[in-house]
Formats: sequence, C-alpha cells, structure tokens
Amino acid sequence: MLERVEELRVEAASAIEAASGTTELEELRVRYLGRKAELTTILRGIANLPAEERSQVGAGANKARKALEALIELRAESLDAGELESRLAEDSIDVTLPGAPARPVGHIHLITRTTRQIEDTMVGLGYQVMEGPEVEHDYYNFTALNHPPGHPARMLQDTFYVQSDPEVLLRTHTSPVQTRSMESQPPPIFMIAPGKVYRRDSDATHSPMFHQVEGLAVGEGITLADLQGTLDELLRSIFGSGREARMRPHFFPFTEPSVEFDVSCFQCEGTGTLADGARCNLCKGIGWIEVGGAGMVDPNVLGFVEDNGYDPERVQGFAFGMGVERIAMLRHGVPDLRRFFDNDERVLEQFS
Ligand code: DAH
Repeated sequence: MLERVEELRVEAASAIEAASGTTELEELRVRYLGRKAELTTILRGIANLPAEERSQVGAGANKARKALEALIELRAESLDAGELESRLAEDSIDVTLPGAPARPVGHIHLITRTTRQIEDTMVGLGYQVMEGPEVEHDYYNFTALNHPPGHPARMLQDTFYVQSDPEVLLRTHTSPVQTRSMESQPPPIFMIAPGKVYRRDSDATHSPMFHQVEGLAVGEGITLADLQGTLDELLRSIFGSGREARMRPHFFPFTEPSVEFDVSCFQCEGTGTLADGARCNLCKGIGWIEVGGAGMVDPNVLGFVEDNGYDPERVQGFAFGMGVERIAMLRHGVPDLRRFFDNDERVLEQFS
C-alpha cells in the first residue's frame, strides 16, 4: 500500500511540475487530491486496514498529500505570475505609434449654402430672416393667402394633409410666413422666410420635400419698381454681376398684379446663342430662365392682418418666392434634383 502511495506521489509531482497553465493545474489537483482521487480513497480507507499497517500507511499518505498540496501551491504561483506577464505583454499599447490621420471636416450641403447666400444678400438689403412651421394650418397656407374655398391647390392629391385633422397640412409653400410675420409685427416689414415645403410630386425636377425662400416687403409707398430693383440685386448676387431680372404677367391668388420672374441666361449672356452659333441648351434659346413667382401683395391678404396695423388703404408692398433646389441646379448644372437627397458623399464633395 505504501508503495502505491509513493508511486502516486511521484506521478503527481512530475505532472504538476509539467503543468503548462492554471487550468491544467486545477485538473491535476482534482485528479490526484479530489474527492474521487486514489490517494483520497486510500486515506479514507485507513480505518479498515490491519492495525500494523494503519499508522505507517496513514502517515505516508498524509505526508504525500501535504507534499502535493504544497507543490501545487508553488506551481500555481509561478504559473499565475507568468500568465499575468504574458497578458500584460499582449495588451500593451505602443504610445509612440502615430495617431489615426485627422478626418477631413465635412462640407455644407449645396441647398444650405444656396439658402445662406440668399439670406446674406437680403440681410444686406435690410431684410430680417423669419421662420414658420412646416406643419401648417389650412388658414395660413390657403385662406389668409386669398385661396378661395374650392381652389384647386387645396385638393388632397396636391397636398399632404394630417389624417386626424383636415385643417392641418404640410405647408405647400413658404408664403404662409407672410401672414404669420405680419401678425407678429406692425409695418413696415422687410423679411425673408427660407424653409422646407411639401407637395405630392416626385420626378427629376420635383421632390415631395423641397426648399423655398419667401420674401415680403410691406410699408408705405412700395411699388413694383422696388420689386424689380430687389430682384435685380438678388439675382446678380446669385448668378453674377451681369444679370438682369425680367417680370412676366402671371397669376397667384395672393398677389395682384402677379408675375413670374426670370434671370437673363448666364450661359449665353441672354443672347440665346452660344459662341459656336448653337442654340443655348440652358435657356433653350430664349435668353431667360424662370426662377420664381412674385407680385404686389393683394389687399385681401393685408385685410387678414388689418388688426395688426396693415391697413390696405395705407400700406402696400410686394412678395416673392422661389425654389432653392431649382436655383442650385441651374447655378451648378445639377441634372437631377433627387441627387440632393441621396446622401451620396460625393455630391457634397463635388459642390464644396
Ligand atoms: N408660393 C408660390 C409657389 O409656391 C410662389 C410665390 C409666388 C410666392 C408669388 C410669392 C409670390 O410670394 O408673390 O408657387
């Protein structure tokens, strides 16, 4: 029996010495000293041995057990230290390596840039920049702008309505800010209102969401000639110093008279013909390009804000509106408006 104990001790000792990790060491502890280990069984059975063997085997087995326990403890310490060392080596950070290259800063979207350019010019002319809600009341979007009930622009298929309330819609133009701004301050008023507008349209030149800039000037003695001068100035700042504005008769419910306004073509200098004699493809040979709508504010519109100091007998003025995407497309030769909203970074980079 004593020989078997010695055999086990030698076998276990060399296995412990050879253990390559703490997990393996724990396995060896269970195998040689655990509840089901042979040495443990021997120790447990000592009471059943013949009296003459009992003390010898008991002392030997206990000694072997103690020796193996001490050996395991020693080995565990050195394995732990080694594992910590190698983990530290693996995890180390080389602070002398160069950092990640700086990310280039982004670009302002062309629509934002074009809007800001218009704002800058108009602020330079003494206008203030105002905002109105995109979710708008039927009253501001249509009624107060002199759209009589039954006007085709109110039709469901032209406009996004809010399902729970037929009087609430996504504004179809920035013109409702005219009434809102006049409600907020007495005349004279000179303001522009840039922002998002919505329509049930979608193709290469129409998007369900797009941007407009509204302009409004109301006070005493403001005339259509002032509108002409203002548009001249604005279009020159966008399209270049040689440009001119042209007004053509048109109809809008909230202006009287109403016009559409054009800019003289910046590709053919308004001649309709290119240097090589070919017809200008940008203005289609006309020499003018349509950019927006305008007119003298209809007295009926002022009637809705008469209580705010806008007496149609005393003050008058002009309003204009234009699409920001259209201006950016013309100015930069962008063929499809949807590219503005595709989130393709290359588009941002191209127009930086
Ligand atoms: N709100 C018009 C539209 O979206 C554009 C417009 C036309 C605005 C004439 C005006 C204006 O202020 O006077 O089609």
